Amino acid sequence: MNIQGNTILITGGGSGIGRGLAEALQKQGNKIIIAGRRESVLQETAKANPGMEYAVLDTSNAGSIQAAAAKLTSQYPDLNVVINNAGVQRVIDFAAGYDDAAAQEEISTNISGVLRMAAAFLPHLRTKASATIVNISSGLAFVPMARYPVYSATKAFVHSFSMSLRLQLKDTSVRVVELAPPWVGTDLDASHPERAAHEGMSPMPLPAFINAAMEELASDEDELKVAGAKFLYAGGVSEKQIATFAQINH
Ligand SMILES: NC(=O)c1ccc[n+]([C@@H]2O[C@H](COP(=O)([O-])OP(=O)(O)OC[C@H]3O[C@@H](n4cnc5c(N)ncnc54)[C@H](OP(=O)(O)O)[C@@H]3O)[C@@H](O)[C@H]2O)c1
Repeated sequence: MNIQGNTILITGGGSGIGRGLAEALQKQGNKIIIAGRRESVLQETAKANPGMEYAVLDTSNAGSIQAAAAKLTSQYPDLNVVINNAGVQRVIDFAAGYDDAAAQEEISTNISGVLRMAAAFLPHLRTKASATIVNISSGLAFVPMARYPVYSATKAFVHSFSMSLRLQLKDTSVRVVELAPPWVGTDLDASHPERAAHEGMSPMPLPAFINAAMEELASDEDELKVAGAKFLYAGGVSEKQIATFAQINH
């Protein structure tokens, strides 16, 4: 996609990958609006990046999305890119006891949020000469990690839904891009780094990920896999990696 001169809404843009993308895209000359639930986090990020705007939005809530779509499309009529980045990841162990609240939180944010954001913003995006919806999936969309059974499945959903949406919109001005990150050092699962250290794994540092993701976004491809996510997508998982996954999964 053209990564300059857009007006871009990034959900979950106050922290982690969303903040990294917001800052990198602002440096490229895009107008950026970040959105999330915690106003203090959004405020701090916007303050650190003069010119960046923010809006409080809970993507797990249909009413919140409707209200944000009405407000933001009238406040920012040039809005032409929506990055569905907000996501949550929970450890759920069916052998030890199912946590329905955690599962529903993942489903309402990672699945319903992505569906409703597309539906709510599409009428506006279709009025633009060139528009893009970017859905953030994961390498775990292609090979699940059993520790995150619902999360992995929600990301497989994002991959599948992005393919269908892309086809349905192929004769419109709206492109659909999927960006699949590998494991990146953020706050997504605070318990992950401690466990992973035991397993000899380490995340991709956020700045390196953002550089790689920006290169991918600047391409004309629809399915963007960054670093480790490429191997999972291609099924190019080595025996050693399978052994590591099996170890992690138990
Ligand atoms: N980090 C990784 O290893 C990794 C790998 C593959 C894919 N991803 C995906 O990348 C995306 C960003 O993850 P991250 O690692 O940057 O996680 P993060 O550091 O936990 O950030 C997630 C962001 O999403 C926002 N958010 C969560 N639930 C929301 C909701 N219901 N409504 C609006 N905003 C919400 C959070 O802000 P509030 O809490 O203030 O709402 C936060 O700013 C997610 O979709 C994640 O699944 C991450």
